Amino acid sequence: MKIFFKFLILISFLLLCINKINCLDGDGNPFRMIMLLSAGVNDLGFNNMMNQGRVGVAKDLNIEDSRLVIVDGLNETIALVEPILQNEDIDFIICSSQGHTAACKYFAQKYLNHPTIKTQFLIRGSGSTTANLIQFNYNFASANYMSGYFAGLYTKSKKIGFLSPGSMAKVNDSWVYAFWLGAKQINPSIEFYYYNIGAFLNPDASEAATNDLLDRGCDVIGNTLDDFSSGITIMSRGHRTIGTNGFPQKLIYGEKIIYSYAYNWTKLFLPITKSVKSGNTNNTNGYGDFNLDESKNFFNIEYSYGLDNLTLTKMNQQITYLKSNPRATHPYYCNDFLPAYAKKYNFTLSGVNKSCIDHSTFLKINEPFPGMTFLGIYNISLNEVKFSSSIQNGFSIVTGGLIAVTLIMMIGIIKFSKTSSIRSASPIFLNFILVGGIIVYIGIIVWVGPMSTSSCNARLWLVTLGFSTLIGSLVVKNFRIWLIFDNPELKSIKITNYQLFPWVGACLVINIILMSILTSVGDLKQIDAMNIDSLGKYEFMKVCKMNQAGASTLYTILAYFAALLLVGVFVSWKIRIVDIQEFNESGAIANTLYAISFCLFVIVPLMISPQDKQSETIILCTTGLFITTAALLIIFTPKFWRVFRKGSNESEINYGKKKSSSVATARAESGSKGSNSASGSKKTNRRGNIVSGDFTDDSESSIGNDEDKEIDNAANVTSGAVLAEFTDEASDIDNIELKDIEQHDQFEQSEQPNTTDIKSENN
Ligand SMILES: *[C@@H]1O[C@H](CO)[C@@H](O)[C@H](O)[C@H]1NC(C)=O
Ligand SMILES: *[C@@H]1O[C@H](CO)[C@@H](O)[C@H](O)[C@H]1NC(C)=O
Ligand SMILES: *[C@@H]1O[C@H](CO)[C@@H](O)[C@H](O)[C@H]1NC(C)=O
Ligand SMILES: *[C@@H]1O[C@H](CO)[C@@H](O)[C@H](O)[C@H]1NC(C)=O
Ligand SMILES: *[C@@H]1O[C@H](CO)[C@@H](O)[C@H](O)[C@H]1NC(C)=O
Ligand SMILES: *[C@@H]1O[C@H](CO)[C@@H](O)[C@H](O)[C@H]1NC(C)=O
Ligand SMILES: *[C@@H]1O[C@H](CO)[C@@H](O)[C@H](O)[C@H]1NC(C)=O
Ligand SMILES: *[C@@H]1O[C@H](CO)[C@@H](O)[C@H](O)[C@H]1NC(C)=O
Repeated sequence: MKIFFKFLILISFLLLCINKINCLDGDGNPFRMIMLLSAGVNDLGFNNMMNQGRVGVAKDLNIEDSRLVIVDGLNETIALVEPILQNEDIDFIICSSQGHTAACKYFAQKYLNHPTIKTQFLIRGSGSTTANLIQFNYNFASANYMSGYFAGLYTKSKKIGFLSPGSMAKVNDSWVYAFWLGAKQINPSIEFYYYNIGAFLNPDASEAATNDLLDRGCDVIGNTLDDFSSGITIMSRGHRTIGTNGFPQKLIYGEKIIYSYAYNWTKLFLPITKSVKSGNTNNTNGYGDFNLDESKNFFNIEYSYGLDNLTLTKMNQQITYLKSNPRATHPYYCNDFLPAYAKKYNFTLSGVNKSCIDHSTFLKINEPFPGMTFLGIYNISLNEVKFSSSIQNGFSIVTGGLIAVTLIMMIGIIKFSKTSSIRSASPIFLNFILVGGIIVYIGIIVWVGPMSTSSCNARLWLVTLGFSTLIGSLVVKNFRIWLIFDNPELKSIKITNYQLFPWVGACLVINIILMSILTSVGDLKQIDAMNIDSLGKYEFMKVCKMNQAGASTLYTILAYFAALLLVGVFVSWKIRIVDIQEFNESGAIANTLYAISFCLFVIVPLMISPQDKQSETIILCTTGLFITTAALLIIFTPKFWRVFRKGSNESEINYGKKKSSSVATARAESGSKGSNSASGSKKTNRRGNIVSGDFTDDSESSIGNDEDKEIDNAANVTSGAVLAEFTDEASDIDNIELKDIEQHDQFEQSEQPNTTDIKSENN
């Protein structure tokens, strides 16, 4: 089509300017004409029709210099057009769109009676003319009335629909009323449904609204929109449609268009341009409507073949009626529905029988008449894109299983709390760690679960509190080992659980304070996010969002965890020398902390790089699961393994005996630094503490030679105290510490030969 029109322009220029004289205006200069369009001519709608009008005028009047300028908006139009006005001798500017009206009015006022710039302006409107300002309008009411009339004749389902821009596009629905009235005139039992689209051009909404109207059983749907998306939708569902956009849709869609009206702007612009070209400044406004005079008949109606004669006859009768009666008496201005409506909305009536309104009152009609069903502003329904439910279920089931395992481990800890392996590791702290793990697991289930403002908050609280408990307990445990085994004087330091709880508590309090800040100032809430990830235009996803302050607090929390981890890693590095299996959790703890630190190094870049929300959740939850589970497994598997290897009935005596000797070994090695470091047979640590021959986990490697046995004897005074430091029954120990030590001393003395037995047993 575009090519066709361009070709047409070209041909017309060639034809026109064969005779140059015809191209001159009254001054003897060539007549120059510009048409301002708000968009390109390929819209197959308003702008295309306007351009056809320009071409028709130029052809008819042999105007050589007739240009298109595509521009919209007041400032843009002034900026683009004013230099042309000032520098070129432009005779006539057609300001086709409402977007040009203000600018063209401004020009007309500025250059009225200007000595050199004699340009005349044609704008949309119906106000008064000046020497250089002409206004044009057309009878949109009669066009819509006739379309409705046709719809009433054509409908089989007796249900018709309509789409209008509505008040959001700053137009009232008087045109909808005109359409409804046309149908009502011919078919009083008609059902009528209409939507507001909210804009002249919103193909997505008009498409969806059209489908809705079709689903309601409407078989004819009109519109006052700029584009033909509604009609295309109807055709795509196998129906024929009407064209109400002023463009001869039949040219493109053929017989699928049963009815259409097209504007012929040539007929409107031709007389005005002729007048301007002749140098007349006594201007008259232009108006397009049905007209008995075919050269002034603005609307060009087309029907498809095969329409029954009755329909055509009635249409022609009605059009002839409109053509031959004064506009003020047309049905859309004068009818029996108006008195009641005017009374309700306080409209002024006029006419012989007081059943008429004038055009300005007509434009105020917005509320539906009885019999019109207004369906509201069409809102394209947004589809929520949910987190994949299989991933959700997968995470929940796995995490649920892990919670069950953790609970079993807690029971195991309680059940075997008397065994050396568990007891030396402080059952209370072990349970703290497990509780922390469970809290993290619950947090992960909440994390993948349904999104809401409370779950957004809950998941952060749970996960951070869980990690605080878990890591806090681990670090504090390590810290105790460090304090006991790595002090220069090698005094028997007694640290009870009650002294340690406040430190774990402090970790939690810091966490709670930070999270409280995040919750109170962070404005963490669930929102419906659109245009994220690869979501479609009308899809949204529920996501958690917080403000800048909340994000800063979250980073602070992460920094706090990082600090906690660094302290933990440092402490486990410090105590890696402790060479007693039961106490040497440093290895496990260190492994855990290394694993977490390593994970974070992988996770941070992953999270910083662009992620969609779903993969982000998967990465975070997998990391959380991995860290927690790895931590729990690394810490607890060796303990339970030892418990089961040695039998769960490891007795108090066995414990005491075994423990004492082991502790004694370590303590003795440390304790005898003065003499043994000199012998050179032992490695010494930084402070001169002698440690076992190598740094392996095999705590028994150094036990068994005679030297060690002697050391055992020398050191067993402190062994009980060291043991006591690690036991849970802090109060017992507080009370019976001395007695305890004495008991152990006795065991050491009496059971001394057993040490080798245990050793061989272990081998
Ligand atoms: C147009 O320009 C004027 C001043 O030149 C300015 O005040 C006004 O905001 C502008 N309007 C738009 C829509 O840009
Ligand atoms: C529009 O009107 C002009 C002038 O009357 C006429 O030459 C032309 O054929 C008309 N266009 C259509 C599509 O009817
Ligand atoms: C302008 O035109 C109107 C009718 O079109 C006519 O009545 C009037 O006399 C004219 N005025 C001048 C100054 O030509
Ligand atoms: C329709 O009406 C015209 C004249 O009114 C007549 O010539 C023509 O045969 C009719 N066509 C049909 C199909 O009835
Ligand atoms: C109706 O309109 C008239 C003026 O047109 C005004 O005086 C009157 O108060 C209005 N009545 C109501 C109910 O709005
Ligand atoms: C006014 O009403 C009378 C009686 O109802 C009717 O005869 C007459 O045609 C009406 N006039 C107009 C202009 O509608
Ligand atoms: C729409 O109608 C209201 C009154 O109902 C009126 O004030 C307003 O000017 C009308 N809008 C247009 C664009 O005509
Ligand atoms: C569409 O949304 C607007 C406000 O956003 C509301 O007023 C209107 O009722 C909604 N329309 C429908 C049909 O729900």
